[in-house]
Amino acid sequence: MKPLDLTLCATDLAELASFAGRIALIVEEKGKLSPAGARIDRMMRGGLQRFLASPGFDALKPGEVSELAYPAGLACESLMICFLPRRAGRLIARKTGGTLAKGHGAKGTLIVAANHSLAGEIGLGAVLRCYEFADHKTAAPKAYGDIRMMVTDPDKARAEVDAIAPLATGVFLTRDLVNEPANVLTTTEFANRLTGLRALGVQVEVLGEEELAKLGMGAFLGVGLGSDSPTQMVVMQWNGGAKGAAPFALVGKGVVFDSGGISIKPAGGMEEMTMDMGGAAVVAGVMTALALRKAPVNVVGLVGLVENMPDGRAQRPGDVVRSMKGDTIEVINTDAEGRLVLADVLWYAQERFKPTGIVDLATLTGAIIVALGTETAGVFSNDDPLCTAFLAAAGTEGSGAWRMPLGQGYDDRLKSRIADMMNVGGREGGACTAAQFLKRFIKPDQPWIHLDIAGVTLSKSETDTAPKGATGWGVLALNRMIQTLLEPK
Ligand code: BES
Ligand code: MN
Ligand code: ZN
Repeated sequence: MKPLDLTLCATDLAELASFAGRIALIVEEKGKLSPAGARIDRMMRGGLQRFLASPGFDALKPGEVSELAYPAGLACESLMICFLPRRAGRLIARKTGGTLAKGHGAKGTLIVAANHSLAGEIGLGAVLRCYEFADHKTAAPKAYGDIRMMVTDPDKARAEVDAIAPLATGVFLTRDLVNEPANVLTTTEFANRLTGLRALGVQVEVLGEEELAKLGMGAFLGVGLGSDSPTQMVVMQWNGGAKGAAPFALVGKGVVFDSGGISIKPAGGMEEMTMDMGGAAVVAGVMTALALRKAPVNVVGLVGLVENMPDGRAQRPGDVVRSMKGDTIEVINTDAEGRLVLADVLWYAQERFKPTGIVDLATLTGAIIVALGTETAGVFSNDDPLCTAFLAAAGTEGSGAWRMPLGQGYDDRLKSRIADMMNVGGREGGACTAAQFLKRFIKPDQPWIHLDIAGVTLSKSETDTAPKGATGWGVLALNRMIQTLLEPK
């Protein structure tokens, strides 16, 4: 879906009295009310101040919201009192926005924020939380009113509020792609949706099986042999930076469904493997955000789109495939397919673009979920400055990320009797051996980060800023890293 509109307005006391939707009043400090807050209190005959003096308000932690339905003296259907101390910081402000947006409906929400400094974060949280994936529900879609934000000085908040839509549009594209079932989001459909980015000024190329074969991408192509959906690589270029300057590269695993192939997965939970294209979806989301905010930077996004299915033509355990790099791989387990996809797409990215840095994203291993759970992605890197920049950006965006080790010991586990390497390195340290496998396809001196996002891509419960389902993890963090690391100040 497209993000809801968020508009800014100046304090308007008459509007507070007549607004029929939900009013969310940001309270920074007990006893201190903005002119708008004071007006609400007068209309409630002191009821607001009485609440602020009560244990009910004291119990609110920063970012929490207390809701009063149909408050006497006001026309609104609900008054939400949102406790957000000025020092709470950006992430609590975003959480506040998310919390107050729950229950946003047809009559709209009026956020009375007064102070402009955190308006952008409150707004972003609210807009992100209003995401919904209802394309396959036959019931009439819910109607949503506007989200409006009332501040004392709208001009001061304008820039931050204008920055919301590009980010939210990127996150929503990622979530839509991840939530979409695999009978709808085939490789072809995925590629079609990506060609839609041309409208934003992104150059998009789609390479089919013949071209991939000519390039020698035997590892990537082997994964798709059992599927009727054609294996495709999509290359997206956003050239907003200096003409001819080497780009930064984002590479995504786009397995539209991972049945495991001949090494088939157990039935329980297999339906979740519609999200195995989450890495590619984040790449698409970041490219969208960059293009919409006309980022002054060159970034190329490459995704390997393929479906891993068992079939008479599918690849077998024991098969040996030859990668574009030239290294041969013994496919011990057809369910370790993501690394076969990335091996060739990573190599192509380096050969063609000589990128200044690469970040790859992949729902690569169940082992990373065992190690880090579902709140933190695994970060593997051969370059400390790049890694530090990413971890800082992720921290600022509240996106869980934790550095994991690479090392010779993991590499040794990939030795094959008959080929240059095997595609699995055993159960122990499974996320690390997978990352180490990828590193074999990274040239020496090529700064690189691998993000294993298997745990963070889909959430089983709602979060501060998303309903349950696809999270969009990574879009905001990568957008911020690109902005702080690569764009001129
Ligand atoms: N797509 C899966 C990893 C995954 C698991 C993502 C759970 C999201 C949730 C990947 O292709 C896979 O099957 N990995 C195997 C590797 C093993 C065969 C070495 C795994 O993690 O079990
Ligand atoms: Mn798999
Ligand atoms: Zn997979």
